Amino acid sequence: MKILGILASHKEHGLNAEMLQNVLDNVGEGVETETIYLENYHITPHKYHEDNPVLNQLADKLMESDVWVFGAPTYWRECPGLLKNFFDCMRPKFVYFKDNGDTIPGPFKDKHYLSISSCYMSTTENFLTGITDETFKTIDRVMTAAGVIKAGEIVLPNTFGMKEIPEKKKDLCAKYGHKISKKQEKDDSTVKRYIQLFFMIAVMALITMGIQLPLKAIMPIDNFWVNYISFTIIFFVLLGCILHYMTFVKHRRR
Ligand SMILES: Cc1cc2nc3c(=O)[nH]c(=O)nc-3n(C[C@H](O)[C@H](O)[C@H](O)COP(=O)(O)O)c2cc1C
Repeated sequence: MKILGILASHKEHGLNAEMLQNVLDNVGEGVETETIYLENYHITPHKYHEDNPVLNQLADKLMESDVWVFGAPTYWRECPGLLKNFFDCMRPKFVYFKDNGDTIPGPFKDKHYLSISSCYMSTTENFLTGITDETFKTIDRVMTAAGVIKAGEIVLPNTFGMKEIPEKKKDLCAKYGHKISKKQEKDDSTVKRYIQLFFMIAVMALITMGIQLPLKAIMPIDNFWVNYISFTIIFFVLLGCILHYMTFVKHRRR
């Protein structure tokens, strides 16, 4: 098994490089690692009929690795240009094109990736306004098109004046180092998601019925239609709150 670190920072020995290294230093025994610093490569788009040795070399490195770890600081609230250029130029290698121009995942389908990003803004500001969101979203969008499966993400806010990454982030990097060293299934979380969904519905149904009980005093809950309509409305409101929590609050990067 091999894990490839892809560093897209302006600084070869900055905080993203340190986080990336902390992940790679903690991979399991026998797992091979390599880091490529994108700035060392003259990455240009593939021109029709022309050979592009740099893209071929990078594609070979991606192909021989099972997991890719992106170290990409947030620049202008976005993915760094170095990584974006890499993604843009690799597009013909990441996806196959159908006759109508649609794309389908290419030869890297079912590999895995981990994303790392950072920003100057404080933990609270990043939590509330999602400074690093676009960086992760760009990586996710490209990887989804290529059929590469997400193994997780690590975010480091508050980097202004920071010389070294905090201990708890080192621990998190180590945790991911162990995690990505294990041979992963195609989609590890399908069963987990169904179990979560089951418990979510079970708890929401219980809360809904609990709310309906005191309503007996003000409406004829024993009537089938009153029972059904009140259950649907309460359940819908709870579902809306949970979905809002999951999409807007839980996914805020800290
Ligand atoms: C060109 C550039 C743009 C940046 N834009 C932002 C930004 O929009 N928001 C932010 O919080 N930090 C911003 N930063 C700070 C970087 O995210 C910060 O330098 C990074 O966390 C440090 O990582 P490194 O040590 O790996 O370079 C920017 C830095 C650079 C160089």
